[in-house]
Amino acid sequence: MQSTPKTFRIKSFGCQMNVYDGERISELLTDNGLTAAADGEDADLVVLNTCHIREKAAEKAYSDVGRLKREDGSRPMIALAGCVAQAEGAEAKRRSPMIDMVVGPQAYHRLPEMVAQASRGARPVDTDMPAISKFDALPKRRRANPSAFLTVQEGCDKFCTYCVVPYTRGAEISRPRADIVAEARALVEGGAKEIVLLGQNVNAWEHDGHGLAGLIREIARIDGLERIRYTTSHPADMTDALIAAHGEVGKLMPYLHLPVQSGSDRVLKAMNRSHTSETYLRTIEKMRDARRDIAISGDFIVGFPGETEEDFQATLQIVDAVRYASAYSFKYSARPGTPAAQMEDQIAPEVMDDRLQRLQARIAEHQLAFNRSTVGRDTQILIERSGRHPGQMIGRSPWLQSVHVESSAEPGTMLDVTLTAAGPNSMTGAIRQKDAA
Ligand code: 5AD
Ligand code: SF4
Repeated sequence: MQSTPKTFRIKSFGCQMNVYDGERISELLTDNGLTAAADGEDADLVVLNTCHIREKAAEKAYSDVGRLKREDGSRPMIALAGCVAQAEGAEAKRRSPMIDMVVGPQAYHRLPEMVAQASRGARPVDTDMPAISKFDALPKRRRANPSAFLTVQEGCDKFCTYCVVPYTRGAEISRPRADIVAEARALVEGGAKEIVLLGQNVNAWEHDGHGLAGLIREIARIDGLERIRYTTSHPADMTDALIAAHGEVGKLMPYLHLPVQSGSDRVLKAMNRSHTSETYLRTIEKMRDARRDIAISGDFIVGFPGETEEDFQATLQIVDAVRYASAYSFKYSARPGTPAAQMEDQIAPEVMDDRLQRLQARIAEHQLAFNRSTVGRDTQILIERSGRHPGQMIGRSPWLQSVHVESSAEPGTMLDVTLTAAGPNSMTGAIRQKDAA
């Protein structure tokens, strides 16, 4: 039996929404009298906020649990949270006796109560997806990073055949507009200069007849807020209103993460993506008409069941057609319970490795070309953290590039710079005198 914990640590894996959830869990535990453990200090309670989207997610989570055993044989109280918790449920307690509680992504507002139960020797499991929003039960936001995440939408109704998200995060739900705006104000009061609106299908956000474009326009009116971003979008929900907002709302950054997954229409159909390479390219074109300098980013999966070399060539072609400023690419991983896991023609690992390498090389070429095309631009960066060398800080450009600059400006400062050099993964900037601009 565990005694009542006084300190906690949260380890978040996977996507930005888990980072957001981790922050909210931290605020909740703090409000309930616990303290975040200092670096290097043993915590009494460890929350593993897990991700289930790719390879061996569950195995990894169990081995992370195992590693929490201390040298003297003792261990912290352990909460398995996030998407692995949702997928495994009570099974997790059977597979690992070290796990004291299991809490899904829609139930973590109940953590303080579950911790109390665990202190009394119980092993609670809560993977409910209640109709009443967990957000209503969470404490108000107080402190925020210069760039702060704000979840506006959760879940997914698209059911791409490879993806676990509809099962782990549930159906698409949009948070009410007033709640989001209130949270955005609190984040700005707490120090945020940029807000990143999050959702598995963020551009499907809808409330009271308003779509994401309207929400962005409303948030843009908050004084002190400099920048707005949103992620991740589905091509099918890229409305003309949202595209137009990119040309009209100055605070909306010229960057769009729009996953395409494959360039082959045959594969897209088998993936149940509801767009073709042509409709996707048309959206990109409209986006560029609205905002000429927009940086496009994407996600790709190689080795989906049945993918031929010809299909893969179509993926390379769409990379060339879009000229991505950055992109993430993954080897297909069969997720238990998804339709694609049952499909024939699963692709051999060495074929996937080879395609992934070729795809990443092609993406890297475009990324470097994009970075080079921005050299010489006068722009602003939002300082986020210190660099590796003394006197160096790192900020983000409007196009989400990391920019290294010689400066002692604090995180949260908006700095006028000229981009002076491009690397494959980052830029160098030089401070620009305001009056010279
Ligand atoms: N295998 C590989 N990649 C996947 N993704 C989602 N599910 C899988 C899977 N089963 C990728 C998609 C998605 C990103 C978040 O993760 O590219 O856009
Ligand atoms: Fe998964 Fe497709 Fe939904 Fe994205 S849109 S979360 S890939 S099912």
